[in-house]
Amino acid sequence: MLTAVHSLGELENIEFTVIFAQYQGQWLYARHKERRTWETAGGHVEDGETVLCAAKRELYEETGAAGFVLSPAFDYSVRKDSGVSCGRTFFARVERLAPLPESEMCEVKLFDALPEEMTYPQILPVLYDKLQAWLAGMRTAMPAAERFMRSRMTDSAHDVEHIYRVLNYALDIARHEGGADRETLTAACLLHDIARDEQFADSGVDHAMRGGDLAYDWLTASGYTDAFANAVRSCIQTHRYRSDNPPRSLEAKILFDADKLEVCGAVGIARTLFYQAHTGQPLYSLDEHGGVLDGSGDLHHSFCKEYKFKLEKLYDKFYTERGAALAKKRRQAARGFYDALLEETRECFRLG
Ligand SMILES: [Fe+2]
Repeated sequence: MLTAVHSLGELENIEFTVIFAQYQGQWLYARHKERRTWETAGGHVEDGETVLCAAKRELYEETGAAGFVLSPAFDYSVRKDSGVSCGRTFFARVERLAPLPESEMCEVKLFDALPEEMTYPQILPVLYDKLQAWLAGMRTAMPAAERFMRSRMTDSAHDVEHIYRVLNYALDIARHEGGADRETLTAACLLHDIARDEQFADSGVDHAMRGGDLAYDWLTASGYTDAFANAVRSCIQTHRYRSDNPPRSLEAKILFDADKLEVCGAVGIARTLFYQAHTGQPLYSLDEHGGVLDGSGDLHHSFCKEYKFKLEKLYDKFYTERGAALAKKRRQAARGFYDALLEETRECFRLG
């Protein structure tokens, strides 16, 4: 018997599902009535059933998982003398367990890893190892939300790394502040800029308002509760600096601060320049004598105007003490760049 893994969608004739399920940080396995060994939920895709529906059905029937977020991870094939069969591996984050329904399983149990006494020892270890690598490619316990986010981040100022820096800042602030709901905060950080592209395409779109609605729709469609999706939407809709809609919940204030840290210091300068290059803005404007303006009274968009209008002023606009302290550490790097830019460009014109 030879088990091989394949990219998601690479195999056409998917007949089986295998679902690795996590509940409260541990792996959930089931035991068949006629076996002593442990196995994942999974089974045959029935006639007229989609692969995803089969995975949902098997997960409930064989573990009692009643609330979960299910993500397809990768395909696999098993070659035997009798031929090749193809399957799809899923990762499930189980939120609620109900009593085990009547099925061929008689018991469920939580393990830290793959059980030693397992059914299908020639298949499950191969899939488990691949799943670990698949999960390592994601950086949180919300892989489906990460994949959704990754599919929507395109410009350099608001790329995937911006999202992870915001998340790391937010988790650090949350540790210092205490009392924040980590899951709401993680989802809000991951999804806060998913409508950036729409704002680029149409400046009439407010990416915070639109992103909040998109996140709400995606979360409820993915099995999260209405209350959770609403809390995330509220955080996202109040994270914008240029807005008269201030954050209210602790999670919203933390997201606001974490995102503002990304406009501070050297990273803030770099991201501002990325954004302005994308929208075709110059470094500075000139006065009527050809002198380089410092941005304070400029009519036209430029880097110097953005620095004077926003970057210089945001350091006392933080809601949390930890956010303000981190911002203070980054202030001189931004100020130094702005001063050097003005000095160099003004000297250049004097030399000519
Ligand atoms: Fe952001």
